[in-house]
Amino acid sequence: MEYKENMLSYEDYYRLRASVGWKNFSRLQAETALNHSLYTVIAVENDHTAAMGRLIGDGQYYMIVDVIVHPNFQKQKIGTSILHILLDYIDHHTPDGGRASVQLIAEKGKESFYETLGFKRVPHEFCGSGMRKIIHK
Ligand SMILES: CC(C)(COP(=O)(O)OP(=O)(O)OC[C@H]1O[C@@H](n2cnc3c(N)ncnc32)[C@H](O)[C@@H]1OP(=O)(O)O)[C@@H](O)C(=O)NCCC(=O)NCCS
Repeated sequence: MEYKENMLSYEDYYRLRASVGWKNFSRLQAETALNHSLYTVIAVENDHTAAMGRLIGDGQYYMIVDVIVHPNFQKQKIGTSILHILLDYIDHHTPDGGRASVQLIAEKGKESFYETLGFKRVPHEFCGSGMRKIIHK
């Protein structure tokens, strides 16, 4: 498996989301989002994109989104590798003495995948619940 940076195409993005039953956005909205990514990673085998992960953020706060391993490739530690690459990017871009807050929303039942990578569930002793609002138009 080869991991490539900043090569995530709309076609792979659309196909990988559909492969795990996630609703897709319109092409225009998705292409705009991809263009605004801070950093993306894909896992490629024989010219076939098997997985992806995407980072958005500003150097202090980061959000990890669109972590998807195609069902044919799950449970082979590809998701873990994608997360390590995204976290290495953040580590590399955080100055000595600085800090970065990395956030994500786990799918129901997938929390343990992220816990193995050092993420903590909220709420906990210092934080209330994560919150989100979806705006439909
Ligand atoms: C969740 C997902 C990214 C994990 O990727 P993966 O390559 O299959 O996972 P890995 O092989 O790296 O697994 C690492 C660990 O994560 C945990 N894990 C993996 N898949 C899991 C699942 N479906 N549910 C709960 N925990 C899971 C396990 O602890 C696993 O360790 P183990 O193999 O020693 O038991 C992948 O299953 C996927 O794309 N699912 C559909 C989309 C999705 O839910 N994305 C995450 C959004 S929050």
